[in-house]
Amino acid sequence: MNARRIIGGVALALTLPGVAAWAVAQKAETPVAPPTANPAKSTPVPAVPAAATDPVLERGRYLARVGDCVSCHSVAGRPAFSGGLPMKTPFGTIVSTNITPDPQGGLGAYTETEFARALRAGIAKDGHRLYPAMPYTSFARVNDEDMHALFVFFRNGVQPVAQKAPPTKLPWPFRMRGLMMGWNWIYLDKGVYQPDSARSAEWNRGAYLVQGPGHCGDCHTPRSMIGGVKSASDRKGELFLSGAIIDGWYAQPLRHTDRPSMAQWSSEDIVQYLQTGRTGQTAAFGAMVDVVQNSTQHLSTPDLQAIAGYLQSLGAKPNGPGVPSQAALVAAAPQHPTALALRNGTVEGNSGAMVYLNNCNACHRSDGTGANKTFPALAGNSVVNARDPTSLIRLVLAGSAMPSTVQAPSPIAMPDFGWRLTDADVARVLSFARSSWGNRGEAVTAAQVAKVRDSLKPVATTAKAQ
Ligand code: HEC
Ligand code: HEC
Ligand code: HEC
Repeated sequence: MNARRIIGGVALALTLPGVAAWAVAQKAETPVAPPTANPAKSTPVPAVPAAATDPVLERGRYLARVGDCVSCHSVAGRPAFSGGLPMKTPFGTIVSTNITPDPQGGLGAYTETEFARALRAGIAKDGHRLYPAMPYTSFARVNDEDMHALFVFFRNGVQPVAQKAPPTKLPWPFRMRGLMMGWNWIYLDKGVYQPDSARSAEWNRGAYLVQGPGHCGDCHTPRSMIGGVKSASDRKGELFLSGAIIDGWYAQPLRHTDRPSMAQWSSEDIVQYLQTGRTGQTAAFGAMVDVVQNSTQHLSTPDLQAIAGYLQSLGAKPNGPGVPSQAALVAAAPQHPTALALRNGTVEGNSGAMVYLNNCNACHRSDGTGANKTFPALAGNSVVNARDPTSLIRLVLAGSAMPSTVQAPSPIAMPDFGWRLTDADVARVLSFARSSWGNRGEAVTAAQVAKVRDSLKPVATTAKAQ
């Protein structure tokens, strides 16, 4: 191997976090088209869609929802799973492939063994390595029965599309897919999910869905310098699901930490959040909007309960000093001195409280309790108390809208304040919210706000370019 190659390899390795993180967040809002009973007659397909009642095929369809294959492998206005979603990265564009059963355009020529190898080991039929934009390090956990069901669904339950997706053409050295062998050697943990016999069947079901097909850790676990998740399961340490920046948003920790977190929510609230993207006290934003819309809202209630139970168990310290939960802080918030000061109007001219009163109070209220499933409560909120304030700053600067789901169709939105609040105002109001109503987040600085404001400029032109 010559020096150029080695340097190129290092360059690729250093740039991979961008690929992996960006790609995982890059979700198209494409609903899955129901498979047609009658595929295009002109397309020579070896397999005809099976009756919609084949239980194995239906299981595969469900697992495709859990794995959210549609978000990455579809573009708006084209058939589901026909690929072509460009995932722009600073060094080139990775295009998702056609995974419909067409033998030329898609996976029609894949054997079941080759399909499983692509999903679990990141190796395509012809032997080329896939980029970790495809979450194969998580899909490696998928068990044989589920892998078979996925294969049956992608062979018999999806309308074949003959057109290949445009090829990925990364400039040298990024196009050297062979480099992924080294990366895989470090980050690809082989072997399907192994149940923990000390735990219940429900806990194991939740662990399997989260670590395997659901690939929650691809967004919620921090990544190393070269883009591998630092901890792929609860057995690999406390960093698993401990929170990470993804596509300019902070994906909150999905475990108990030293601050209020979703692991303290009731099981009902977690299920409701995954079904609708909102609870009585919080709402989804950022990349989680698409996850709820395209994936978790379609999961069965028992599966969502299993996920909830598993996440509630992570990092739980039954005898440790308790972190107050959002429910407890919301209950106490109306009596908090902050609430009284805001209500009595005894706030200073240039303070964070005044910025709050003028801009936020109408929706999030003086006691920070918001309004049920409409305006999130800021008291005890895991986002407001988060170690990393990136999401908070971005929400205030750029606004956001909740997911639209079958059970809660209206995408209620928060307005953007970036055009009327200065960096110092945003820092003041967020520092205020983070220290009020029992919250214990660190102060936010104007420099932190300026950094996020800056990052929003390029994102606005490159994200979802399609
Ligand atoms: C986060 C985005 C993402 C998700 C989710 C995802 N994929 Fe992919 N997948 C990709 C990308 C990008 C590629 C192309 C990678 C490359 O060219 O190196 C790919 C490649 C593949 C390939 C290789 C096809 C080929 O011959 O090139 C298969 C098979 C595949 N995906 C199946 C699936 C299935 C099945 C699911 C759901 C269980 C899924 N993918 C979920 C992004 C994703
Ligand atoms: C594509 C990236 C991505 C994937 C995949 C993903 N999430 Fe998220 N998730 C996020 C982001 C970003 C947030 C922050 C938004 C928020 O808190 O509402 C979030 C927030 C959450 C929250 C709310 C946390 C809080 O404290 O408010 C829960 C619960 C959650 N995710 C569960 C899951 C589960 C379970 C999975 C796997 C089935 C998953 N997520 C997969 C990006 C992702
Ligand atoms: C018009 C009503 C409205 C106003 C005014 C408003 N918000 Fe919001 N806020 C919302 C809605 C709706 C959401 C949920 C958005 C989503 O999930 O995409 C939200 C979400 C948030 C969140 C995230 C909470 C969570 O659990 O997801 C924070 C923090 C927040 N707002 C702070 C503020 C601050 C600070 C101000 C004033 C600068 C403000 N909001 C003004 C309606 C409002």
